[in-house]
Parts: sequence; structure tokens; C-alpha cells
Amino acid sequence: MLTPYPDLKELLCRYEQEHILAFWERLTEQQQRTLVAQLEAIDLALLRRLYQQRDKIQAAPSADRIEPVPVIPADAPEREQRRAEGQALLRQGKLAVLLVAGGQGSRLGFDQPKGMYPVGPLSGKSLFQIHAEKVLALSRRYGQPVPFLIMTSPATHTDTVGFFEQHQWFGLPKEEVFFFQQGTMPALDLATGRLLLESPGSLFLSPDGHGGTLTALARSGLLEQMKSRGIEHIFYFQVDNPLVRIGDPEFLGHHLAARSQVSSKVVAKRSAQEKVGVFARVDGRCAIVEYSDLPEELALATDDQGKLKLWAGNPAIHLFDVAFLEQMTRDPEKLPFHLARKKVPCLGADGQLIDPPKENALKFERFIFDTLPAAERWLLVETTRASEFAPLKNASGEDSPATVEAAILALARDWLEQVGAEAGGKVEISPLYALDVEELATKVFAGTRFDGEWYLQ
Ligand code: UD1
Repeated sequence: MLTPYPDLKELLCRYEQEHILAFWERLTEQQQRTLVAQLEAIDLALLRRLYQQRDKIQAAPSADRIEPVPVIPADAPEREQRRAEGQALLRQGKLAVLLVAGGQGSRLGFDQPKGMYPVGPLSGKSLFQIHAEKVLALSRRYGQPVPFLIMTSPATHTDTVGFFEQHQWFGLPKEEVFFFQQGTMPALDLATGRLLLESPGSLFLSPDGHGGTLTALARSGLLEQMKSRGIEHIFYFQVDNPLVRIGDPEFLGHHLAARSQVSSKVVAKRSAQEKVGVFARVDGRCAIVEYSDLPEELALATDDQGKLKLWAGNPAIHLFDVAFLEQMTRDPEKLPFHLARKKVPCLGADGQLIDPPKENALKFERFIFDTLPAAERWLLVETTRASEFAPLKNASGEDSPATVEAAILALARDWLEQVGAEAGGKVEISPLYALDVEELATKVFAGTRFDGEWYLQ
């Protein structure tokens, strides 16, 4: 048996965390090593500070510091020009795409990584497959490999990599799919600030939020690798949105024309209560105020025409300039932590697992969009929900499998109408058949009617 390293024990005592060794004698040497490694990887001083400031952090900016932001409308007159510029960049192979898939998707109640959830209404394709096929279609169209970076967490890594392997990377060249893992943060007991144990030899840890992308990109060497192969921009998106237009050339064109360091898409909020972050100018800088941090009176505030003041919702689609990301990775500590009060099953003093009846723990996460205020040049482009945003969040009701399926079918119907065809029944379009309506127009004749069920692939 190992004796707990005296330095570590002393450190734990200094931060009143020595209870973590309560079951030490019962652990195998291997378990003891794992626990020591977990403890050595955490910053006890930081955790203490976060706990002490728990009621102050996250105070949302006061109303007088928040103003609405300018947004480029979806039908901007220069859109054709922008699209051509974006396409030129794609032909030069200067874009990589980054999917964040480290979250635990607890609201959906699906016990595997959310990307494995089948959402294709007729094809039964998973979110991962739909995203991967869009990346493949993009690289075929522009004749350049598009590196596909996928951020996982310890909670999702093994299953995610296994799923891609099992499906032969969905046709993508294996060497163009790069998995990298984000870090974790321990949860603290809400009443005492003490670390929680998940088992006698293991701390309760959870993913450190998608703000962890910065550290993980740098630590994995991927950012350096992308830079050295000439990648200049990274298109960022979330796993839960099958409508996302990965590498949208028009968006890229706007980003390039403004020499923007970070650009984001915007959708109008469907109601003041919708659980999306909102774009705003905070102290003159572009920022996203997360829904969980937005005071109700601000969320409800309207202008003279009765329109929500903070209407610009965040579908979590961003374009980052690589140099800006690199600048941000030099000091990831600048990103603040956001706190969430959660129910976390953990070990009690007697070593029995407790399933708490109410919130018992504090969890900490960093958000990637907290990089926005650091940008000197940024821009926002509006898009419509029907064409680009149908996230899978809940098991039923809003943003559930049923609404996602309906949105995929409705978009296909809309594309068919735009090319002069018609969907009499259910039509689903594979990204490998048509990546956008322009491509669909080259394959479907005007006047065609699709009755019954059609999977165009
Ligand atoms: C998120 C955004 C919200 C936005 C909405 C749009 C945050 C904090 N908020 O809300 O502003 O309007 O999506 O759908 O993101 N993830 C990781 N690692 C983590 C945590 C999350 O990779 O540690 C990934 C998830 O896998 C997912 C994405 O980040 O792809 C969003 O996470 P989720 O918890 O679903 O965010 P929301 O609360 O829905």
C-alpha cells in the first residue's frame, strides 16, 4: 500500500479537503495512484476562491451596461459577392471545422454521446453521421480536405471514437478526423465547499465546459498542426443541431470581408423564455449573455415596437480566426467560470452513495463564447431558424426528437419548393446528395412531385 504523499496530505489539510482520503486504506494501489493523479491535477486554491465567491460570480452585467448589437441581415445585398469570396477560401483549403461533443446531454436522457442519437427521419442517421457527411460533401465540392476536429470529454470519448471507427469514419479519410479531449473540473459540496467523491477512489469530475476547447486545442498540439498546414479559420458548431450549414461560404465571406476575428450566426429568439444565450454589447464589446445568467426583466424588455430588446439568440455557430484563437489559448485563465447548482450523487461520510433530493453541488464551466469580448473585430450575421437551427435538447416538447425530425423534413420541403419541385409526402435529403439548395437544383427537375417517402441519396 502507498502512504499518501506527505506533501499532498498537508496540502489537502490546508484546504480542508483531507476527507478525500477517508477511504484510502480500502483502495488498491492502482486506485490510490488514480486518486493521487486526480488530486494533483486540480487547483485547490482556485476551487476555494470560486467557492468563496459563489454568490458574486455570475452576477449578470447590470442593464445600463447592456445594449443591443448590430446584426447583418440574412438578405444583405452583398451576399452573392460574399459567397464567392467564401468559396475561394474553401478552394484554397484554409478552413477546418470543429465540433464540440463533450457534453453529457443530461436533459435528453440518452445515456450515450448525443451525437449517436438517430435523427434522420427516414434514414435513421445519427447526428454524427449527418455532420460527417456534410464535411465530406464540402471537401468533395471544393476539392480540398477539410480537417474535422471533434472535441470529446472523458464522459464521451471512448464511445464517440468507437462509433466513428465502427462506421469507417462515415466515408471521411481517417487521417482528417482529429479527436481531442477536453479537461474536467471537480464539483464541490454546496454547503461546505468540499470536494465530492464519486467512488472511494475517485473524485466527482465533469467536463470543464466548451471553454475547455482552448486549453485542449493547445495541449493536443492540434492548433499548431492546423496552423502549419495553412488553416486560417475554424468553423465551430455544436453536436445537437443537424441543420447547421457547416462551412457556409456566405458566412465565411462576411467574416473575411470584415477581417473579423470571430463571427457568429444569430437567430431571433422564439420567446423571451427560450433557453438560448443572447448577443449584446456589454460595456461596448460584443458578448453573449447566457440564458441562465440573464435576469428576467432584461430577457423580457421590449422596444417601442414591442420587439424583444435582446432578441439576437445564439445558435452556437461561430467562425474563429486561427490567430485570434491562438492568442486566446495563451491565457485561457482569462475566461471566467460559470457556476451551476446541480444534484450530484456522491459518497457520504459512511461510504454509502447518496442520491440527493435537491441541489447539493456546485459545478464549474468555462464557455467558449466568453472569448468574444476580447475580439477587436467581430460580426454577427442573421439566419433563420428554419434553415439552420433545430437543436436536440429535450426528450419531449420543445427541441426534442419530434421537433428536430419535423424541422429536417420541413427544410427538405422548402428546398424542393425553391427548385420548383414538390414534396407530397416525407422527403429527407442526404448531405451527400445535396449540400444546399443550389446543388439540389442541379439534380431535381422543376415540376417533379415526390409522393410517399423519399430518401434522396
Ligand atoms: C448552448 C449555449 C447557448 C446556445 C444554445 C444553442 C452554452 C453554455 N450555451 O446551450 O448559448 O444558445 O446552446 O443550442 O453552451 N459541450 C462540450 N463540453 C462541455 C459542455 C458542453 O463539448 O463541457 C458541448 C455539448 O456537447 C454541446 C454544446 O457544447 O454540443 C452545448 O452544450 P449544452 O449543454 O447543450 O448547451 P445549452 O445549455 O443547450
